Amino acid sequence: MRKPFIAGNWKMHKTIEEAVSLVRALKKELANVEGCDVAVCPPFVTLPAVREALEGSDIGLGAQNVHWEDEGAFTGEVSPLMLVGLCDYVIIGHSERRNVFGETDEWINKKVHAALAHSLKPIICVGESLEQNRAGETEPFVGGQVRAAFEGITAAQAKLVTMAYEQIWAIGTGLAATGEDANEIIGSAVRGTLADLYGDDVAQTMRVQYGGSVKPQNVAEFLSQPEIDGALVGGASLKAPDFSEIVKKGLAAHLKQ
Ligand code: 13P
Repeated sequence: MRKPFIAGNWKMHKTIEEAVSLVRALKKELANVEGCDVAVCPPFVTLPAVREALEGSDIGLGAQNVHWEDEGAFTGEVSPLMLVGLCDYVIIGHSERRNVFGETDEWINKKVHAALAHSLKPIICVGESLEQNRAGETEPFVGGQVRAAFEGITAAQAKLVTMAYEQIWAIGTGLAATGEDANEIIGSAVRGTLADLYGDDVAQTMRVQYGGSVKPQNVAEFLSQPEIDGALVGGASLKAPDFSEIVKKGLAAHLKQ
């Protein structure tokens, strides 16, 4: 059985002070939770303070983006080398990076290579738009995103990657997919593509999160599905009681399977 993994993507929220107070609360609320990997992904500028505040806790830390070069004339970017020793994980290819900031499949692949070369564990996001879903293009589109992200990545490296399937119209809208729909798409387009690339044994070891309007009220619907190993939580990860409840309810639903 794959160990569940629930991560909070804070996006562009929280000052340093607010970030520290949120993780202090999470440390307390999640102190006795075992059997689930948990991570928070705050904005870059708060990472050092959050790292310090997390000392003595099992909560992991992730960045929300990374450049692929170690250094250079790339104004406004943060390199993988700068994240070494600071983060365990890095989110790559979030739909907001793809759609608002124009990140391409090729860039995302370069970022995956760079992260793995620096022992940062990627959380690679994929997902289709509402139009693509309605046009029946979900499987080829999401499958294509997975193939492109893993170009040149070995099976041993792939095992270090977590996938996050986030339907674009479910993000921040309250319109989550049904557990069954998400399970089916993850099984075919995400894990199915990974099995084509690396074989079933490798694909079965890799964790796939669902993301998009995950809340304490609906997390069990997703984590009780056989193909869904966790959640990537946006809005509901910004409040300690909500995120803690998501972790506890999600873990309980996963264990009941
Ligand atoms: P919401 O949970 O706010 O819908 O965001 C999901 C997401 O984009 C996580 O990466």
